[in-house]
This record gives sequence, structure tokens and C-alpha cells, in this order.
Amino acid sequence: MTTPAFETIIEPFRIHSVEPLRPTTPEQRRAALAEAGFNLFQLDSADVLIDLLTDSGTGAMSRDQWAAIQHGDESYAGSPSYYLFRDAVRELFPFDHVIPTHQGRAAEKIIFSVLGGPGKVVPNNTHFDTTRANVEYTGAEAVDLPISEARDPRGDHPFKGNMDVAALDALLAERAADVPVVFVTITNNSGGGQPVSLANLREIRAVCDAYGKPLFLDACRFAENAWFIREREPGQAGRDVVDIVRDIAALADGMTMSAKKDPMGNIGGWLAMNDAELARQCRAVLILTEGFPTYGGLAGRDLEALAQGLREAVDHHYLRYRIRSTGYLGEALVRAGVPVLTPSGGHAVYLDARALLSHLSPLEYPGQSLAVALYEAGGVRSCEIGTVMFGRRPDGSEHPAALDLVRLAIPRRTYTQSHIDYVIEVCLHVAKHASELPGYRIVDEPPQLRHFTARFEPLR
Ligand code: F0G
Repeated sequence: MTTPAFETIIEPFRIHSVEPLRPTTPEQRRAALAEAGFNLFQLDSADVLIDLLTDSGTGAMSRDQWAAIQHGDESYAGSPSYYLFRDAVRELFPFDHVIPTHQGRAAEKIIFSVLGGPGKVVPNNTHFDTTRANVEYTGAEAVDLPISEARDPRGDHPFKGNMDVAALDALLAERAADVPVVFVTITNNSGGGQPVSLANLREIRAVCDAYGKPLFLDACRFAENAWFIREREPGQAGRDVVDIVRDIAALADGMTMSAKKDPMGNIGGWLAMNDAELARQCRAVLILTEGFPTYGGLAGRDLEALAQGLREAVDHHYLRYRIRSTGYLGEALVRAGVPVLTPSGGHAVYLDARALLSHLSPLEYPGQSLAVALYEAGGVRSCEIGTVMFGRRPDGSEHPAALDLVRLAIPRRTYTQSHIDYVIEVCLHVAKHASELPGYRIVDEPPQLRHFTARFEPLR
């Protein structure tokens, strides 16, 4: 008997400790929704069956990460856990200065409080919500420059996360003096978890060089991005993901990181760069807001868990499973005719709520309506990424977002294929009844990042 190459891609791990899931009744979920003001961020997670709100900090750590936790050294200054962490970061991203933060937005807060300010403008392929908020909080302007293909939910461009390089060039030609840094988000989360190609990064680098501007990565999902490069970019097939990541890093001058994503942490982040003077200024803010530069808002044990997590994030068996299992959910929905953003992202599948709930206008928040319905129907928590998240401008006006999406984010190594089969069933049920779903209005909202705490009411 010859041994074939079996096609089933299995979870490359087995379960070592389990957490119970608590089913609820539709009545309980309706009561929970009313209590939460129809805002899924306001639910108790104990009332959620399958939690696809985010892939951030919600993944399962490995046996070796838990072992690393025991190895943590909690010295205030100069802990060996810091050096282990720093070296693991530099293995992939060899920047001179590695500054730990408690999560990604803390790194953003620090870098933009140094580089931002009134009159400044920061370009990005697409800012994530906290990145945009941290830019705008300093009085600077956050400009998104995705390629035009990114706006077509059903196009099949392999690198929909790419930046529009001509638009970047035009912005710099006009306002070079106002641009302190160019950012690229890999993968492009707000644009659908879509990857950025090495070719695009090289072009962006060339434009940055022409204007003498630093290029920074918002690199939360760098390993997934590198895997997409390996699978999709001409000349990259068969390469080691570690080498692709190093190629990406070599094109940049620095990075911000939420280590709650690909680095497999439940908490953590960092800021890294080559510019010593910039690092000095960032560390000064770090000491005020996070902590001493060798722990920066994390415990020694967290630094150890991240060092180990970084090694696991670039494992090819893991990445093949990771990207394939997200694709499995996306493909099942496409086959059933549910409008989703294609190709599937690395960490999430994005339902096109504007297309599915075409009876609602964007200012009736179709994404919110769909997300509420998925929870009500099956206890599945997702996240609106659309007009609720992006509709309110700094000047107080409200406009439809480019797309109204509902993100089903897949925590790393957490749910099995049968959990995902259940999610597919819930999505198909809700899609069948989409035309019956109500619009929503906001009855209370804060001035910034309203999607976290706003309260809603159904329109009928
Ligand atoms: N940048 C990107 C691209 C992100 O996706 C996130 C977080 C951050 C920065 C901020 O990092 O949460 O550690 O402060 N994204 C999470 C999400 C929250 O659900 O997509 P953080």
C-alpha cells in the first residue's frame, strides 16, 4: 500500500485543558441583548456560546507557553525575561530598539504622542480603529490609502490589503512636510484581514525613500500575512515564513505590535525601531504611561509567553491550518450564497451586511443588525466593522463607512471544526431571514470609539 497525501487538514494540536461552554435559550439571549443596549461589547461573555468578537488575546496558549510563564522573572529592571523577549522579537524583526507595551494601542499612543500633533497627517493602507483614534487624539489626520480593489467586496485580488502607492506619492508630493511617518497594517484588519504583498511593500519603501520618510508596520498579523505571501506571491512559494517576515522587517524602520494576535499572547505588545533618538523619546513616554523599559506594562511571565508564542506563530503546520480553517468558514458561506468579503481573510471572515440587509440604509446600521441577529439566533458573538465603528467623524458629522461588514474573527487554536460548522448553520439561518431584520438607531454614544459603549434601539 502506498501512502497518499491525505487532504484533510487537521488541527495540529490536541486539547490539553478544556473550558466549558454554556448554552443559553433564545429568551435569555433576547433579555441579555436588551440589557446590553444591543451592543455586543456590553454582553457578559458567559452569555456567549461561540465568541468570534475578536481574535485579540482570545487564543489558546500552548503547553510550552504555560511552562514559559513559570520561568518568568519579575525583576523590575533588567529581567532576563526581557532579554529573552527582545531576542525573540529580533529573530524576526531585527530592529535596534524593542520597547514592550501592555498591548498594541499603548504602542500607538506612545509613537503618535511623539510623532503626531495638529497639522500632521499619517497615511496607512487602512487604520485600525484604535490606530486612527490615537492619531486623531493628537490633533493629526489619519488618511486611509487602500488600493481601489479593496473597495470591491467580491473582487479576488490576492493582495487586497495593498496600499495605493500612487495615492501615497500624491499625498507626499503635496504635504511631505506634514507627514511624520507612513504606516502599513499587515494584514489589513479593517479592510478585511487582507494581506499586503512584498512587492507593494517595496514600492511603498521606494516612495518613503524618495521623500525621506520612515516606514512603520502595524504588524499584529505578520505571520498570517507572510503565509499569504508564500502562497500567493510570484517567486515566494516554498520559502520559510521566517525569511519572508525578515524581508518584510528589512523594508521598515520600525513597528507597532499587538502581541495579542499572531504572537499568541493573552496580553502584550511592543514598539520597535532603529532610530535611537526616536526610541529615547518613546521610552520617556513609556516610563510615564506603561512602566520601566524592560517590562513596559507587562509581567516578566508575559514576556516569556510571548517569546515562546513568536516561535509557534511562524510554524508552517500551524499557519497552514490557521489560514485553511478560516477559509473553510468563508468557502461554506460563499457556497451557500451568503455575501462575504472575498478572498477570506487570515484571522476572520467578513459578512457583507450592506449586501445581505439591502433593505436597510447604512445609517440604519445593517452590520449592527446582522451581528445582533447572529447572537440572538445562535449565541454567536461577532463584531460590526462598518458605519457604527467608522461613521462618526472628528467634526461630529456622520457618514456611511466604505463597507458595512460583520467580522467573524477566529481566536487562534481555540475552536474546533464542529464549532465552526455550528457557526455556518447559524449564519445560513440568519441569512435566510435577513430581509426581516430591523435597522437600529443609537440612543447614547461617547465622543470617541463609540462602537464599544454606544447603546442602540431597534427601529421597529
Ligand atoms: N492594529 C490592528 C491592525 C489591530 O487589529 C489592533 C487590535 C490594534 C492595532 C490594537 O491592538 O488591541 O492590542 O491594543 N485589534 C483587535 C481586533 C482589538 O479585534 O481586531 P490592541
